Amino acid sequence: MCFALATAGARLGHRVLLISGPTNLDVPVDVDFLPVETAREMFEAVNLHLGKADAAIFSAAVADYRPVLFAEDKIKKTAESMTLELVRNPDILGSARSKFGFTGVLVGFAAETENLEQNARDKLRRKDCDLVVANDVSQEGLGFDSDHNQVILVYPDRVEPLPLDTKEHLAHLILDSVQELLSARG
Ligand code: CTP
Repeated sequence: MCFALATAGARLGHRVLLISGPTNLDVPVDVDFLPVETAREMFEAVNLHLGKADAAIFSAAVADYRPVLFAEDKIKKTAESMTLELVRNPDILGSARSKFGFTGVLVGFAAETENLEQNARDKLRRKDCDLVVANDVSQEGLGFDSDHNQVILVYPDRVEPLPLDTKEHLAHLILDSVQELLSARG
């Protein structure tokens, strides 16, 4: 969705910065691209660039945890089982207002397998977003690794379900919503 949104934004003539972890997708034309590898690198990149944006859309599926230890060399097998210790990654979207002081239009995504609307509402409030785009990732063939998606738009005061659509078209609909939110601010 992130690449579809960046493509749509550039086509509409906006200046777009795409900060992305590794993917097999081509960088969209007319988009500034900042590749990162880890959640912490993405956190730093967002911190550096967010202040310049009128609107920011956070659609990366950021890993919530990372291993405490990073092995430089191959880990040879010894014991019959092994336990990985994980620590929390920074919540980048959750830091946008509270840590980075972002005052523009803030859009988050919510990938859920149950209680879609309620969980999206919680994220909207917790992360102080203007809009959360929520999708049910338990639906086979939609969302991850698919050109199609079905989302609901969750605003502080209303919910708008969008029809099943291509990510390309959904990206345009989401950008229409962002434009409305920007216009409403005057
Ligand atoms: N997100 C983020 N940084 C993280 C995790 C998530 O910026 N470390 C952003 C995602 O890009 C998305 C939103 O937060 O816009 C919601 O992500 P999601 O994975 O659905 O929720 P979490 O905050 O991780 O909460 P939970 O795992 O409890 O559902």
